[in-house]
Amino acid sequence: MSDRNKSPLHGPVDRRRFLQVSGAATAAALTGGGALLTQPEVAAAPLRGLRAVDLRIALKARKSKVKILPGARTPVWRFVGKVREGDPAALEAIPGSYLGPTIRARTGHRVALDFTNRLPEESIVHWHGLHVPEDADGHPRFAVRRGGKYHYEFDVLNRAGMYWYHPHPHGRTGPQVYNGLAGLFLVSDEEEDALGLPSGEYDVPVVIQDRTFDTNNSLLYLRGMGGGGGTMFMGMLGDQILVNGKPDATLDVEARPYRLRLLNGSNSRIYKLVWEDGARFTVIGTDGGLLRKPVKRDYITLAPAERVEIWVDFAERGVGAQTKLISQEFMNGQFGMPGGGGFPQGTAFDIMNVRVTREGTGGNLLPAKLSSFPKLKLADAVNRRDPRRFEYSFDTGRWVINGRTFDMTAVAADEVVQLDTLEVWELENTGGSGPGMGMGPMMPHPVHLHGQQFQVLDRKIDSRFATHWHEVSDGYVDEGWKDTVLVMPGETVRILRRFDDYTGLYLQHCHNLEHEDMGMMRNFQVE
Ligand code: C2O
Ligand code: CU
Ligand code: CU
Repeated sequence: MSDRNKSPLHGPVDRRRFLQVSGAATAAALTGGGALLTQPEVAAAPLRGLRAVDLRIALKARKSKVKILPGARTPVWRFVGKVREGDPAALEAIPGSYLGPTIRARTGHRVALDFTNRLPEESIVHWHGLHVPEDADGHPRFAVRRGGKYHYEFDVLNRAGMYWYHPHPHGRTGPQVYNGLAGLFLVSDEEEDALGLPSGEYDVPVVIQDRTFDTNNSLLYLRGMGGGGGTMFMGMLGDQILVNGKPDATLDVEARPYRLRLLNGSNSRIYKLVWEDGARFTVIGTDGGLLRKPVKRDYITLAPAERVEIWVDFAERGVGAQTKLISQEFMNGQFGMPGGGGFPQGTAFDIMNVRVTREGTGGNLLPAKLSSFPKLKLADAVNRRDPRRFEYSFDTGRWVINGRTFDMTAVAADEVVQLDTLEVWELENTGGSGPGMGMGPMMPHPVHLHGQQFQVLDRKIDSRFATHWHEVSDGYVDEGWKDTVLVMPGETVRILRRFDDYTGLYLQHCHNLEHEDMGMMRNFQVE
């Protein structure tokens, strides 16, 4: 096990308690009186703060310039952080990248994050995939202006897995993430430790994003995509792939096993990943951590915000071997620009070169059994006879969920869920047509739920859409815990989810960030 998996250093409990209470009180004061009135949870923070914090991080969002392409540096927005309390190794920058520092935490630990917004506009941070109290979830109603601060404190209830963080202000999530604001939040636990999976330098994050640059190496957002007024409706589709913030990425590896953790951090682009040399993937984890056992895939479909962890033994290829991770063409043109051109959804891309450059040093065999967790059952769902149904569609010029767009605090009758229940939700992508927007019905929607992870019960495709669905459906990995699920045009996905621990206002939305910003997002209330 690497050092980073060790527990943070523990100081005297009383001192930490004191720091905690004063820290929470300061943060509550900083959010302002108005915010306190509408955020009873913030006022309650000093009480929760009686539990000692294992890790305290100061996180700032600010403007910066980073060398990405040859020539001029690129103006970006980025997260920078400092460990204030706990293991200094809990925060690790990705060298030379605009991506935020990787945060590492343990299940059961209490984490405090003090966010400062140094951006020229309002923002707030969301911990994607983490099951946290509502006041720590980064809901857009908590956005703070430039110079503002927001205090987060929560217990890490999630199992080991690859989670991530990004801004979530309403209407501006797309451009803020596009400008560079995103980072990984890796959780480890004892079950994972016991497996002896590749760690340290053999545990490699692969954050895949697409970007478009102008001739000055500045990022172009929703311009220069060769399309007309439909670009915002399609989402931001870049013409260049970056891995961990770098173009033409090459990973030099030893001839030994690796754990590769893939995140699709793109605003809108879906990838159909294959190894160029035809090797199959051994998938060991998804959004919510390890699978029960490894599963094989010929290709992996990875929609925005989805994660997949793969185990690769490069000894099988041998020193001197080279291969590429590529994204294959699918449905090309079908979801493209209204007038063609650009780099539409489904365009083939090279993602990353891999070179086996040296002999391996150790590495265990892949365990046949990775993890154990309960299989959620339809029979246990309180609404099994009358599943809650959410229709993701396009209606008179807007992306909608059950006909509604996002409204900051509104909750409709069919968006109220009881605490401590298991529910079945039917997520349906029906499209629907709007004037002059013929492609509306044809857009994929990666549906994301805040809060707890869920399991996919089953999927169904409307036969009229089956041809294109079959180009991606064998690449779904539905065996484990998920927080984001791709719902293709004509597809209905049934998921099972528990609503435990926290009441409050949470979100479901399309993780095509331009769809989200346009309002394809709704609250749900757990009460
Ligand atoms: Cu990663 Cu509400 O999003
Ligand atoms: Cu989220
Ligand atoms: Cu969408």
